[in-house]
Amino acid sequence: MRFSKRPAQILTPSIRHCLSNLVRAGGAKWQRAAVAAALSWPAPGPMTEALTVTRPRTSRRRKGDAVTSERQAGPSEVERLEQLWAGDFGRRYADRNADAGSTRQPFWSSFLASHPAERVLEVGCNAGANLQWIAQIVGPGNVYGLDVSGDAINELHARLPSVNAICGVARDLPFRDAWFDLCFTAGVLIHQPEESLPAVMAEIVRVSRQYVLCGEYYSPEVMEVDYRGQTGALFKRDFGRVYLENFPSLKMVDEGFLGRDEGWDDITWWLLEKR
Ligand SMILES: C[S@@+](CC[C@H](N)C(=O)[O-])C[C@H]1O[C@@H](n2cnc3c(N)ncnc32)[C@H](O)[C@@H]1O
Repeated sequence: MRFSKRPAQILTPSIRHCLSNLVRAGGAKWQRAAVAAALSWPAPGPMTEALTVTRPRTSRRRKGDAVTSERQAGPSEVERLEQLWAGDFGRRYADRNADAGSTRQPFWSSFLASHPAERVLEVGCNAGANLQWIAQIVGPGNVYGLDVSGDAINELHARLPSVNAICGVARDLPFRDAWFDLCFTAGVLIHQPEESLPAVMAEIVRVSRQYVLCGEYYSPEVMEVDYRGQTGALFKRDFGRVYLENFPSLKMVDEGFLGRDEGWDDITWWLLEKR
């Protein structure tokens, strides 16, 4: 695939950051996949089928759109947070949580036994704390992960080379409609600002054929919590209710709580299903 100067003009700073990480790591294949994902172009390899190739690109930023005014005003809150996770802040998270998934196997085996899914996507997958267990059940080729942090995606690729891992942003998933039986987040919606949360949820609902799962910090009312000295970076909510109120195609089918005593982080999970 040959690139004209068009991609460089369109790519957001976070995607450019991911690409430079991937290129530094010598991953030409992953660079092509990441560019294809970012721009919805077909890429060679196992990701090709899943990538959007027919979705109208009206929701994407066009050259000359808001770009100029955004440049004058500085990055939006959405871009600020994406850049935060894509940079050193995200790298430090990955370092701190290298072993985060070690206790999660019981949840995933019992969850997938009750709610079978063949093809699974985790949005904000980091280095695979959840996907490592899901891959053992559904097979790595049926497992997909997306994260804005190129370092996390590189690490995931090194740990689980057969899992389909890609760098991108949650508000613009580069996948086909209804391509996954299950699309989920774990500790990711809490980090989305008000401006992009509706788009992120809509994308997750769009790419799921059947199940939407989220495991997040719960609060009956929106509550901001300081997150490692960053403001605007963590909001607790009733995410199950937000999905139900905004997506009439969803019904709630299950919910639960995963406490610290089980090796999780006191998160509430909600499972929704398309009617
Ligand atoms: C708290 S970590 C959770 C990681 C993983 N889901 C888990 O359960 O261990 C949040 C992850 O979401 C990613 N993330 C945050 N905002 C994102 C966005 N807008 N698009 C894609 N990934 C994002 C971060 O890079 C990070 O890997």
